[in-house]
Amino acid sequence: MIDMKGKKALVLGIANKHSIAYGIAKALKEQGADLALSYVGAPILKRIKPIAEELETDMLFECDVTKENDLKHLMGEISKQWEQIDYIVHSIAFAPRSDLNIPFHETSRHGFLTAMDISVYSLLAVIRAAQSLLVPGSSVITLTYYGAQKVVPSYGVMGIAKAALEASVRYLAHSMGEKGVRVNAISAGPMKTLSSSAIGGISQAQRRIEKGAPLARNIEQEDIAKTALYLLSDLASGVTGDLIFVDAGMSVMAY
Ligand SMILES: NC(=O)c1ccc[n+]([C@@H]2O[C@H](COP(=O)([O-])OP(=O)(O)OC[C@H]3O[C@@H](n4cnc5c(N)ncnc54)[C@H](O)[C@@H]3O)[C@@H](O)[C@H]2O)c1
Repeated sequence: MIDMKGKKALVLGIANKHSIAYGIAKALKEQGADLALSYVGAPILKRIKPIAEELETDMLFECDVTKENDLKHLMGEISKQWEQIDYIVHSIAFAPRSDLNIPFHETSRHGFLTAMDISVYSLLAVIRAAQSLLVPGSSVITLTYYGAQKVVPSYGVMGIAKAALEASVRYLAHSMGEKGVRVNAISAGPMKTLSSSAIGGISQAQRRIEKGAPLARNIEQEDIAKTALYLLSDLASGVTGDLIFVDAGMSVMAY
C-alpha cells in the first residue's frame, strides 16, 4: 500500500490486541517499517511480549509517560539502535475510574490533573524527549475522540483532556514545524478496548452509529490504521496540526 521499508516507528500505547495502537503497529509492520514499542506495567508486559514477537521486534521498553526518567531511558535505548525516529504513534490516555461516569462538576482535582498529565502533557513530553532523533519529515500522530468537541456525558473529564490534546496538536504543529516535523490527530469512533471499558455507554454509542452514521457501521482497527499510515507517511507531507475523523461519518450528523 505505502512503502515504509526501513522507516523507524515508535509506537506507545499497546496494551493488548484490541488496542488501537496494535492495529497501527501491525499496519506499519506490513508496510515494512521497523518498530519500537513501549508499555507500562508488568500485567501489560505479559500481553505485549507475544505481540512484539509477532511484530518481529525486540525493541520493547517500559515507559510510564508521567516519568521524565522513563522517557529519557526510552529514547536513550532507541538511540543505541536507531539514528532517527521517522514516526511516533501516541495512543495513550487515562483518567481514574472514579472520575468517569459522574456529573462533570464532581470531577476531583486529582482526577482532572491525572487525565491531563497522562493524556495530554505526555504528547509534549514524548516529542521533547525524542527531539534529537526527530528529523525533517518525521511525523507524529495522537488519538482523540469527538467528546472533545461535543458533550458525551459519560466521557466527562476525558472530553476536557481531549480538547486540550487537540489544541496541543495545533501548537505542537507550529512549534515543531520549523524542524519539518508534522503533528496530527485522528478522532476515532468508539471501539471496545481496555481504556474504553472504563467509560460507560460504548455499546449504546455503537448501536447509535450503526443506525445513524453515514456509513451505517462501526469502525474497525483497520480503518484507523489506514488513516494513520496516510498521516505518518509522506503522502501527508503538507498536512500538520490537523484532525481527521475516522468515525464512519458520525460527527457530521446533527441527530
Ligand atoms: N477506544 C475508543 O473508543 C477510542 C476512541 C477515540 C480515541 N481513543 C483513544 O485512543 C487511544 C488508545 O486507546 P485504546 O482505546 O486503544 O485503549 P488501550 O487501553 O488499548 O490503550 C491505552 C494505552 O494507554 C496506556 N497508558 C495509560 N497510562 C499510561 C502511562 N502513564 N504511561 C504509558 N502508557 C500509559 C495503557 O497502558 C494502554 O496501552 C487513547 O488516547 C484513547 O483515548 C479511543
